[in-house]
Amino acid sequence: MIIAANLKTNLTRHDTASYIEEVDKCAKQSNQEVFVFPAISSLDSFSAEKVEVGTQNAYPTVNGAFTGEIGLEQLEEFGIKTILIGHSERRHILGETQEFIAKKFAYFKEQGFTIVYCVGEPKEKREAGKEAMMEYISAQYEGIDTSYEKLIIAYEPVWAIGTGLTPTLEDIEDIHTELKQKSSAPLLYGGSVKVTNAKEVLSLKNVDGILVGSAALYAEHFCTMIQYAD
Ligand code: G3H
Repeated sequence: MIIAANLKTNLTRHDTASYIEEVDKCAKQSNQEVFVFPAISSLDSFSAEKVEVGTQNAYPTVNGAFTGEIGLEQLEEFGIKTILIGHSERRHILGETQEFIAKKFAYFKEQGFTIVYCVGEPKEKREAGKEAMMEYISAQYEGIDTSYEKLIIAYEPVWAIGTGLTPTLEDIEDIHTELKQKSSAPLLYGGSVKVTNAKEVLSLKNVDGILVGSAALYAEHFCTMIQYAD
């Protein structure tokens, strides 16, 4: 199982260091793969033996004139080799297009990064029926090398992110079964996973792990979810 925490724009550098230290302790007692994606400002603040720390974003370049971004040169300085690409907040709030996302994917694949690639539909596509929804999600695979050996996919319905809403377990299993036909990469579920539902989500056949946002902000809660996977 892969248990991942996306801290988004939360926690200070100091708090992130204690967070990762605590999560590393419980990760070392577990057989699962554990990832943490802290804010970019905290990428140099941790020491971890088991937890794989990744960046929530980067620009597909070594360095250059890309105001507000971070490039390969800076990531290498921090020893970061894992990246989250295609998260719905970057697609919808920052306006990243599929074309740009595919370019970013190709660049970091070329650099040998582990890529956690996110896909998922907004509420109106879910309500438009399964065909429309799968068509929407399929478009998020365009330009993506689904056979990349360091690829992990995360299915995150946009309407479930940070809302407390989740698809039913049957729906998650159904969509994961479909997505497994597109790629044999490990497939995580994300969107309002918390201590109270993590165990049942993790028990689904085609769920290979979880990507957790708000409920992972407390190390203790995230550690409980790691233990559930054992
Ligand atoms: O990357 C994580 C997801 O966006 C899930 O966030 O657990 O707060 O719903 P959430």
